[in-house]
Amino acid sequence: MEDFVVEFRTFHNTDPPEVLKLWHSSNLGPSAAEGFPCDIFELFVFSQPFFDRKGFFVAHEGGQVVAFVHAGFSCTADGTSLDKTDGVISALVVHPEFRRRGVGTQLLQLAEGYLKANGARSIVAGAGLDRNGFYNGIYGGLQASGFASEVAPWAEFLEPLGYHHNGSTRILHRDLTVGRDPVSARLIRHRRRMNLVITDRVADMPWWWHVRFGQLDALKFELQQRQGDTVVASGQIIGLDVYVPKWGVRAVGMKDLWVPEKERRHGYGFSLVLEICRRLREQSIQIIEAQVDADNAAAYDLFTSAKFELVQELVTFRREL
Ligand SMILES: CC(C)(COP(=O)(O)OP(=O)(O)OC[C@H]1O[C@@H](n2cnc3c(N)ncnc32)[C@H](O)[C@@H]1OP(=O)(O)O)[C@@H](O)C(=O)NCCC(=O)NCCS
Repeated sequence: MEDFVVEFRTFHNTDPPEVLKLWHSSNLGPSAAEGFPCDIFELFVFSQPFFDRKGFFVAHEGGQVVAFVHAGFSCTADGTSLDKTDGVISALVVHPEFRRRGVGTQLLQLAEGYLKANGARSIVAGAGLDRNGFYNGIYGGLQASGFASEVAPWAEFLEPLGYHHNGSTRILHRDLTVGRDPVSARLIRHRRRMNLVITDRVADMPWWWHVRFGQLDALKFELQQRQGDTVVASGQIIGLDVYVPKWGVRAVGMKDLWVPEKERRHGYGFSLVLEICRRLREQSIQIIEAQVDADNAAAYDLFTSAKFELVQELVTFRREL
């Protein structure tokens, strides 16, 4: 290994099978799906309409891809297009046998050069909640919202390169086969007075939602007052089918739980989450996941009250250019 010669280049169309091999031999931790074929990579990464081969760099030795970095951009606030000032590192993987040899550093510098040349004013390594255009549904659980904190020495690697910690996303799971749902008089009252409306058309979502989740099964849930039809809470669930070989169970992710401002503090969000759990249990789903920004104490409390448990933290690091 001492006299290895690693070369760097941008993506070739023949790379996906090698990248897949690298993914499966890099110990990426519980939040990385495994045991999937190459077409899943094509679906979630290379066939994205905004995939740019010039932002995907591989390190190779001989014919073997030993590392890659994937740079791209996040989206505008309205979710209708990319924001080229807002650079992200969507993924960075170095094969365990090639670590601590400067490969990660060189790849990151190539990615930074690409982002700078395309107008980025800042870079977020790990992207952040709702900000990664790639790897959703195959890394991080429902969303690739950051890099798994326990799997790699992200701070030790990124801080000397000018990045600072930029927040994290908490991954919460509830095993629906264990324990009972909380009960209270308020929950019973809500059940009597509300209808749960389920639709398979997740309408009115912007382009950014469709390019990231459009290829996964999604359902929309709304809690509506029986009198007057007012929607007091809404949310989506999205299937995590690619995780079945890794986790050995059927799982879904919950997204965009929302209670209108004037309906808050009445327990509607809590009721909706429990109702969704109940329905999923009937469908033999075992794990339900939620991703919560580490600063969002209200959502964290809601999910832990509904018996979700913290399983992982996804971190991000930022650098101004
Ligand atoms: C993080 C990672 C990319 C680093 O790649 P690398 O090629 O080993 O990094 P480098 O050799 O360029 O390291 C540069 C510096 O970072 C720091 N560093 C890197 N790994 C470190 C470690 N394990 N412990 C402490 N410091 C470390 C050191 O300061 C190192 O310099 P030094 O070797 O001269 O001391 C690599 O560990 C990795 O691929 N981990 C798994 C990635 C992953 O989980 N990706 C999933 C998200 S898509």
